[in-house]
Amino acid sequence: MALNSFWVRFIFFCGFWLVGFCDQEGFLSLSCGGTTSFLDSFNISWVSDGEYISTGNITTIDYIDGFSSSSVPVRFFPDSKGRECYRLPVKNVSSLILVRAQFAYKNYDRLGKPPAFSVSLGTAITSTVNLTTNDPWTEEFVWPVDKDILSFCLIAIPDSGYPVISSLEVRPLPQGAYQTGIGDCPYKSSLRKCYRINSGYMDGSLRYPVDLYDRIWDGDQSYTPLLVSSSFNIRRHFNFSGLPESPPVAILQTARVLARRNALTYSLSLDVLGDYYIVLYFSGVLPVSSTFDVLINGDVLQSDYTVTVSESSALYFTQNRINSLNITFKRIKFNPQVNAIEVYEIVYIPMKASSTTVSALQVIQQSTGLDLGWQDDPCSPTQWDHIGCERNLVTSLELSDISLRSISPTFGDMLDLKTLDLHNTSLAGEIQNLGSLQDLQKLNLSFNMLTSFGTDLAHLASLQVLDLQNNNLRGIVPDSLGELEDLHLLNLENNKLQGTLPQSLNKESLEVRTSGNLCLSFSTMTCNDVSSNPSMETPQVTIVPNNKRIRRKHLAIILGAVGGAVFSALFICLLAFLNIKKRRSEVKYTTRATVEMRDWNAARVFSFKEIKAATNNFKEVIGRGSFGSVYLGKLSNRKLVAVKVRFDKTQLGADSFINEVYVLSQIRHQNLVCLEGFCYESKQQIVVYEYLPCGSLADHLYGPNCQKYSLSWVRRLKIAVDAAKGLDYLHNGSQPRIIHRDVKCSNILLDKDMNAKLSDFGLSKQVTQGEATHVTTLVKGTAGYLDPEYYSTQQLTEKSDIYSFGVVLLELICGREPLSHSGTPDTFNLVLWAKPYLQAGIFEVVDESLKGTFEVESMRKAALVAARCVEREASQRPTIALLLAELKEAYSIQLSYLATCGHIH
Ligand SMILES: *[C@@H]1O[C@H](CO)[C@@H](O)[C@H](O)[C@H]1NC(C)=O
Ligand SMILES: *[C@@H]1O[C@H](CO)[C@@H](O)[C@H](O)[C@H]1NC(C)=O
Ligand SMILES: *[C@@H]1O[C@H](CO)[C@@H](O)[C@H](O)[C@H]1NC(C)=O
Ligand SMILES: *[C@@H]1O[C@H](CO)[C@@H](O)[C@H](O)[C@H]1NC(C)=O
Ligand SMILES: *[C@@H]1O[C@H](CO)[C@@H](O)[C@H](O)[C@H]1NC(C)=O
Ligand SMILES: *[C@@H]1O[C@H](CO)[C@@H](O)[C@H](O)[C@H]1NC(C)=O
Ligand SMILES: *[C@@H]1O[C@H](CO)[C@@H](O)[C@H](O)[C@H]1NC(C)=O
Ligand SMILES: *[C@@H]1O[C@H](CO)[C@@H](O)[C@H](O)[C@H]1NC(C)=O
Repeated sequence: MALNSFWVRFIFFCGFWLVGFCDQEGFLSLSCGGTTSFLDSFNISWVSDGEYISTGNITTIDYIDGFSSSSVPVRFFPDSKGRECYRLPVKNVSSLILVRAQFAYKNYDRLGKPPAFSVSLGTAITSTVNLTTNDPWTEEFVWPVDKDILSFCLIAIPDSGYPVISSLEVRPLPQGAYQTGIGDCPYKSSLRKCYRINSGYMDGSLRYPVDLYDRIWDGDQSYTPLLVSSSFNIRRHFNFSGLPESPPVAILQTARVLARRNALTYSLSLDVLGDYYIVLYFSGVLPVSSTFDVLINGDVLQSDYTVTVSESSALYFTQNRINSLNITFKRIKFNPQVNAIEVYEIVYIPMKASSTTVSALQVIQQSTGLDLGWQDDPCSPTQWDHIGCERNLVTSLELSDISLRSISPTFGDMLDLKTLDLHNTSLAGEIQNLGSLQDLQKLNLSFNMLTSFGTDLAHLASLQVLDLQNNNLRGIVPDSLGELEDLHLLNLENNKLQGTLPQSLNKESLEVRTSGNLCLSFSTMTCNDVSSNPSMETPQVTIVPNNKRIRRKHLAIILGAVGGAVFSALFICLLAFLNIKKRRSEVKYTTRATVEMRDWNAARVFSFKEIKAATNNFKEVIGRGSFGSVYLGKLSNRKLVAVKVRFDKTQLGADSFINEVYVLSQIRHQNLVCLEGFCYESKQQIVVYEYLPCGSLADHLYGPNCQKYSLSWVRRLKIAVDAAKGLDYLHNGSQPRIIHRDVKCSNILLDKDMNAKLSDFGLSKQVTQGEATHVTTLVKGTAGYLDPEYYSTQQLTEKSDIYSFGVVLLELICGREPLSHSGTPDTFNLVLWAKPYLQAGIFEVVDESLKGTFEVESMRKAALVAARCVEREASQRPTIALLLAELKEAYSIQLSYLATCGHIH
């Protein structure tokens, strides 16, 4: 072990400090199952793989290589059921690497049964290793890195033996290599090496240090072209700039040149029918230029190709659906030649599942308290247990016989679900949080303890099968279920329902099962109509109107709120009025009277036509979420705006929408994104905000062209202070008080001077009235930011915003996302991971890029207040006023530190 860590340190030392001497920066060479570290004959350092994988057994194999025999360690995976994964750290995200693995069996178990298994990289299944055919077997890939951890997995094939691996290597490749001619989307595919031939070289393979990227170039004696040719090895100073692949000079110095015949051909066999990428290298090693045609499988793909004296060049080809390859160089003038050939199979990388879905699933896994083995991507390379996918979308989820207790809001984030089966999961209370699942076809909530239908079911427009048998549902069956046009099976058996079934469910296409209830049927004769009995629990929903054309648009009004009834009555009148009027005129404002009666402060009422013109017919999307999409718009006065088109109208009836927009229009604060106006026409709920050109805090912290390094500590504190001021206004300054409910980095926007403003408050979220201390609502928010107390009690207070704000502070301090999809389970959740360090040892978790640039006291202050914000008990958390004061102090400490050091960032 001591030896091991010595080597690890040596490599660390080597990689970071002695680049010039060691030249192995970014190399990772794992001896699988090995326990010691060593240098090989190429001076490459090898280490044990124990740090990168925790499963598998270790043994050694006897390896006879030419005349010498040696004992080589291997790692094998007995009784493996799923993926066995190495998790390889990759330093440079968005670069290109080479991954090489060797597999050897050599009858280590004396059973004489070589195994076969699949290999995956990231989300892609890359190949099948069959050690019956070749033992040892080498696989090599050119892989475009997309995150800082790369999973390399062995996947057992049933009845085909234990996966086994002997070595694994990672090497950096030059930027921009292997992209030319591979299509419009570079780096969306990976390349699997088939051939890398050093033409004209007959003396075995060359690799590091001849090739600084440690590609292995095989001599071409075993591929000897059918036609005789001569090989050259001329040392000549030639120009090989301009080749992104940076082939080593030594490789380009040898060539196979056709002396007398007409054509020179390489015939290469390929294992599988597929798409291939071919790179041909040429260099002018001859004293004269040569001109020739290049043919692939008989087709001239390049005619009159000239290799100039002392110049290097390359040709790139892709060939689709081939299973053998003939590369021919056909004489035009002087001697056709080739210096090196690379042939790769193109392995398409499946898209990753949406990150919202993945984080929703991870939160669900966490809430079950079970290890479901959900790691990496849910759909690729293989599907997680309990999950079904179609084209990398998670379309089904089945969990049963565990305890979930309630339908948490995260289920509503899995927008692609078609099947959701949560039978026997101890669900209690109301059916909730599912209204956004517009593609859901089958919902099985049977064998639970649900008591109320809630209002969400009516919004599941695609629902075909609804199984609610064996629950505790009480009262009457809501009429709104009849709106589900595709529903053909409704199972209500064994509940405590009673009364007359709504006539809307009485149709031929729908089978309703009702046995085992108190008294439930379509006939009023057999049951007393309980809906007229006020002592019975009845759903608080009235559906208005029953107009077929718009009934899917969920114009549901929740009655019963103070004053709501009066307002709704007015609204119903308005609707009725408009229904008559609509046929004659083009007036589309559902509630134009209401709209015009108000004083909209500076906000405007837009027509849909104006919105369409401003957004150039909804051309440029600048944001997307479960609420709908945000488009860039330009008003007639040239002002840029963000236009938010809500599709999640399930939350708001027309009157609540108008009411809430009205409240928003009254709010003006320098740290709150300003409402420019809105549009409410019969089908659209659109809100128009000022456009902030610098994007969101999340873009700056995690965006693709990561501008994180411009976010110094002082700038981060300024952003925190700004956002806290905005939140302070919502909590204490505005009337009514507003609980934001979705404080997160992507809701903190930056103007051109990097002033921060909070966005996305108010709409579709409850506005507290007067002296109310809390509101009880459906839990809404974003995974990773959700206050755990709110989650369990559903009592919303300002302290829930403080919790989310604490998470934002932690992100600013640690520079990482609240939920991390790479890394180990104990680093998954930012709060759980960082909490132990916040009071002492904060420097362990401070963002690398901040190191050495902050005043210690300032950081400590911020960390302490963040720790209090994410206290589990809401009462322990500070108020926004207190939080703001602390942040201001941390900010001024950092400012004066910078002033005394003389470097203002
Ligand atoms: C390995 O390194 C040693 C000493 O640093 C050197 O003598 C030897 O030539 C190197 N071997 C190779 C193959 O580069
Ligand atoms: C693998 O290792 C486990 C525990 O170390 C041992 O119980 C098991 O027998 C081993 N399996 C094989 C096939 O060697
Ligand atoms: C990382 O990639 C960048 C280009 O994206 C390059 O400039 C830099 O040298 C790379 N760093 C390492 C360690 O390879
Ligand atoms: C592996 O190769 C052998 C011999 O070619 C063949 O019989 C066997 O079916 C292959 N196994 C798999 C899983 O493809
Ligand atoms: C080397 O080749 C590149 C392009 O192939 C060319 O732009 C450059 O001028 C050449 N350099 C010399 C010194 O000939
Ligand atoms: C490749 O060349 C060989 C020998 O000339 C020939 O038999 C074979 O049909 C060719 N294959 C293709 C795909 O052209
Ligand atoms: C429900 O799940 C529990 C475990 O949580 C199990 O013991 C019970 O048998 C299951 N019931 C049914 C009907 O499947
Ligand atoms: C729902 O799940 C239960 C329990 O597994 C099962 O008996 C029932 O058939 C399922 N319902 C449907 C419609 O598939």
